Amino acid sequence: MRQQIAAANWKMNLTYVEGQQLLKDIFDENIETKDNQEVIFGIPFPYLMMANEKVNTLKNFYVAAQNCSNKKSGAYTGEVSVDMLKSIDIKYCIIGHSERREYFNESNLDISEKVDLLLGAGMKPIFCCGEPLSIRDAGTQNEYVEKQLQESLFHVSAEELKNVVIAYEPIWAIGTGKTATTSQAQEMHAFIRSAIAKQYGQEVADAVSILYGGSVKAGNAKELFACPDVDGGLVGGASLVAVDFVEIIKALK
Ligand code: G3P
Repeated sequence: MRQQIAAANWKMNLTYVEGQQLLKDIFDENIETKDNQEVIFGIPFPYLMMANEKVNTLKNFYVAAQNCSNKKSGAYTGEVSVDMLKSIDIKYCIIGHSERREYFNESNLDISEKVDLLLGAGMKPIFCCGEPLSIRDAGTQNEYVEKQLQESLFHVSAEELKNVVIAYEPIWAIGTGKTATTSQAQEMHAFIRSAIAKQYGQEVADAVSILYGGSVKAGNAKELFACPDVDGGLVGGASLVAVDFVEIIKALK
């Protein structure tokens, strides 16, 4: 069975002390993960080492950066390289989040370069994809998402793809409380898995975890995660509340 993952994306929220407290509140619940389950905390750069110290002591718990540079190193003031993240033992990195594509003009090419740097460093990309409302309304979401996959991800080898987590995040569901229905989520996840199967074969497609993101809450996680092709969630707002994120972790199949 492929990994079932509850991933938090704190985005640009919480002070250092608030982040420490949130992690403590979650850890104090002493959550037992099954062998095929993982919990990942996508947190701001300044807190990565603090979190890693705590998380590294827990089975199947990991820390993720929320972004990385598409450059290896050099005169890129303010950027954080993959090698820097690797040097502090960070295993995962969220890339291609719609907020970075929108506010920081990240292109599919930029994201493909990040994929290559992360995989080259032995790290695991959490690759975000998803359509805006205008595309959903036009009914062309499958073509839109497949283009993101083709231009940023489907150049990697089959073995490399098994180290990638895909997160489908319909932009119109992010932060809006307008969660995709279970049938909308399952339909797109099945489409993404079929696109992987077409390119790499069914064995690889069945091995890749595909997370849903976009207003995942304690109250809807169970039904979303019960969908056969939904392998957990990438959670924004609800991950900032310990009791809610704990419920979402417990909803993993
Ligand atoms: O990366 C996850 C995020 O975009 C979803 O945010 O607040 O809708 O759970 P939210």
